[in-house]
Amino acid sequence: MRQLLYISTATPGAAIDISGILATSLRNNRRDGVTGLLWTDERRFLQALEGSEDAIQSALLRIKFDTRHRGIVVLQDRAIAIREFGAWEMARRGPADTADAFDGRMRQYLSGASPSVRGTFEGLIAARRAA
Ligand SMILES: Cc1cc2nc3c(=O)[nH]c(=O)nc-3n(C[C@H](O)[C@H](O)[C@H](O)COP(=O)(O)O)c2cc1C
Repeated sequence: MRQLLYISTATPGAAIDISGILATSLRNNRRDGVTGLLWTDERRFLQALEGSEDAIQSALLRIKFDTRHRGIVVLQDRAIAIREFGAWEMARRGPADTADAFDGRMRQYLSGASPSVRGTFEGLIAARRAA
């Protein structure tokens, strides 16, 4: 199984329909057996994807050609024996979310993730919060 972690930036001026990305991703990833986590503050995206080699390769190709984001940098790409994410989830802090509630949700999503994956998510979230 392959696990990939990348970061990207929302294309300035692009109308980002987060709900649309969520709906398409849930549909495709369930079909293809892809699990992982997409975090966004609507300016940056950080995504972990895991699944079969073929499923990750084709998801990455589709994602790379998506003009809604740019500057995709793969941070980690490795073989894994067992999944670290139980499902595919999207995390963004909604207006009704308290910081504590959001942190709790992230902790839950990342509870099975390896230290390097968890550290990358936590680092980016802290950096964006400080910006
Ligand atoms: C930040 C970001 C993350 C995305 N993540 C996924 C994903 O995990 N799975 C997926 O199938 N599409 C994802 N997409 C959407 C793809 O780029 C593409 O639009 C979609 O796969 C096309 O699916 P369709 O051919 O079924 O319409 C993502 C797009 C963006 C901008």
